[in-house]
Amino acid sequence: MSDPWWRSAVVYQIYPRSFCDTTGNGIGDLEGIRRKLDHLVWLGVDALWLSPIFPSPMADHGYDVADYCDVEPLFGSLEDLDRLLDEAHARGLRLLLDWVPNHSSDRHPWFLESRASRDNPKRDWYVWVDGTPETPPTPWQAVFPAGPAWAWDERTRAWYLHRFTPEQPDLNWSNPDLRAAMLDTLRFWLDRGVDGFRMDVVHFIGIDPSRIAPGFDGPTDPARSHAHLREIRRVLDGYTGDRVGVGEVYILEPEELATYLGHDDELHLAFNFRPVWVPWDAKTYAREIDRAESAFAEPRWPTWVLSNHDRPRHRTRFGRDGAARAAAVWLLGVRGTPFLYAGEELGLQDAAVPPELVQDPMGSRDGCRAPLPWDATPGHGWASPEPWLPWPPEVDTRNVAALREDETSILHLYRRLLAARRASPALHAGRQRRLDGPDDVIVLERERDGDRRRVLVNFAPETRRCPADGDWIVEVASDGVGEGAAFDGRLAPDGAVVLRPER
Ligand code: GLC
Repeated sequence: MSDPWWRSAVVYQIYPRSFCDTTGNGIGDLEGIRRKLDHLVWLGVDALWLSPIFPSPMADHGYDVADYCDVEPLFGSLEDLDRLLDEAHARGLRLLLDWVPNHSSDRHPWFLESRASRDNPKRDWYVWVDGTPETPPTPWQAVFPAGPAWAWDERTRAWYLHRFTPEQPDLNWSNPDLRAAMLDTLRFWLDRGVDGFRMDVVHFIGIDPSRIAPGFDGPTDPARSHAHLREIRRVLDGYTGDRVGVGEVYILEPEELATYLGHDDELHLAFNFRPVWVPWDAKTYAREIDRAESAFAEPRWPTWVLSNHDRPRHRTRFGRDGAARAAAVWLLGVRGTPFLYAGEELGLQDAAVPPELVQDPMGSRDGCRAPLPWDATPGHGWASPEPWLPWPPEVDTRNVAALREDETSILHLYRRLLAARRASPALHAGRQRRLDGPDDVIVLERERDGDRRRVLVNFAPETRRCPADGDWIVEVASDGVGEGAAFDGRLAPDGAVVLRPER
């Protein structure tokens, strides 16, 4: 049996608001993504994941969904989505949507009905507790903004649960009609041909009403989340084409995270977010790799993420261009499915967003959501010169057009790495062994069906010697130096290489 496509794929995350604006309203759109498909093929990624594109009042920039089966007019229309999907498929690119099963918008018609009266048939589709306005049912706090996870609704004199903003009421997955309706939203998109879903905070969905009581730290019963994930998986499995479910399961213990793959009957992949939180340091990364290798041993398959729309970019966290280049070699060389966040291939740093321009309900995530600069013109390739957030730093030189021109750029490094990875079964599908190396250096050996590669990463901003046994050729180097020549055992400061055997 051949491996499903998502094991060897590199997934590129697009935050649609920030990608490319073609209408002039300062907000990126689906047509902007469509026009850049050839660029993404040139880059060499395999799949695109779009952060939510559904109709939304944008209290959380799309993670508050008012209709799971349509497209937000700011981004385009359903026809635009169909066209994007067709044109992506015609180029061999897969497309994943971002499904938000834990909560809807408070403007979703389901919630409007639910809050209309206590005996509304959809009352139980959300989590309501009768009471008095003085005392929320439990002391639970929302993830953001700071404050209780309950909002008082005067009309029916009851509290509703919102683990994120009050505009994002939690859906009640213990109600079978709600479950059926949500599974239908998956079918709607699967029927249109999408290749799968990134599933937002999906470990939260197993609501157990009996846990809404003193002594519980939240309403989620993990056993119920697992049961719902099995139902979700059966929907995906009902379609041909290896449709994939990737879970945003925000659990930082890999051993527990891995349980959300079930016995290959729940999620296909679950994000491992640890690298988003830990320092760029060889000992730390060695530990992370070893933990993931044991928690996601075959037949499981790990994932790796360095940046996304919720955390400062790794270029900003690490503070050095060289480290961001070395990290690219690591991310595209380590065993697992890597998720690239649009802009990391440009080495983008977070934008500085002054307080009066803050858009994010959490307050801290605008910097990494800065618009992508396409060229050095005043509008940087956007139809509006005034996008919804300020541009990232160095925008005149660090933009797609300028970096495409410059073969020594980080953009070209990503391109060479992606090409090397696609061509090498060892890199995209192989098993992995971590070999001993000198201090500050990680050495990975990858192998599949006789194909072999070594990935060496120097985490220090100083030269390190790392002689390799046998004769190896530098296939890709993070600084571009020596590619095609024999490896001389020297790793430049912040240097990382992919090596192939000489014969
Ligand atoms: C996830 C998303 C984040 C969003 C939150 C609520 O963590 O990645 O952007 O704010 O869920 O939907």
